[in-house]
Amino acid sequence: MDGFELNRMLAAALLALLVGMLATKLSDELVSPRYLAKDAYPIVVTEEQSVPAAASQEEVKAEPIEPLLATANIEHGQEVAKKCLQCHSFDKGGPNKVGPNLWGVVGNRVAHLESYGYSSAFKGHGGSWTYEELNDYLYHPQKHIPGTKMAFAGIKKTRDRADLIAYLRTLSDSLLALPKSESHE
Ligand code: HEC
Repeated sequence: MDGFELNRMLAAALLALLVGMLATKLSDELVSPRYLAKDAYPIVVTEEQSVPAAASQEEVKAEPIEPLLATANIEHGQEVAKKCLQCHSFDKGGPNKVGPNLWGVVGNRVAHLESYGYSSAFKGHGGSWTYEELNDYLYHPQKHIPGTKMAFAGIKKTRDRADLIAYLRTLSDSLLALPKSESHE
């Protein structure tokens, strides 16, 4: 009987120890959130996390072309513009085709021609064709002006867009100033 009692006491002591250990472990986890915060922080800033964020931003916002404009290759821009000829004419007084004539479009207002029937998405857009606006539009027309009837996937290479826009800029009676350094000259 004594032995049995002893066993029960031992078992009880063991159980108490176990419960105590569990409680300590639990309270450790409850009481030390700082450890968790420290461990979690470097995980949040790993590159894996920032890559999808950057990629999804890229979908809507084009890489800026401003730094490239001053050194843009206008002849190459004209080459790139061949992709547009199917729908646009570029010469002064040229006809509207599927899309409007693009003479003098840089710096002009969005939907710049009275003679062309723009989509309501375009008419409601407002603003003007700054370099930034053109850059974002030509990067992804449908995303930049949702509902546009310009059925064109966009130009993804930043250098190509810069050259193209520099070429478009030359098609004008009143050149829009280039951003930054050039405008000082
Ligand atoms: C498949 C035909 C098509 C192609 C290809 C195309 N466009 Fe367009 N573009 C249009 C149409 C249509 C509109 C009018 C959009 C609207 O009203 O929604 C337009 C509008 C524009 C406008 C706005 C003009 C304004 O008056 O505000 C610009 C700028 C433009 N296009 C540039 C380009 C350039 C540059 C290219 C070549 C890289 C190009 N487009 C290729 C059909 C096209």
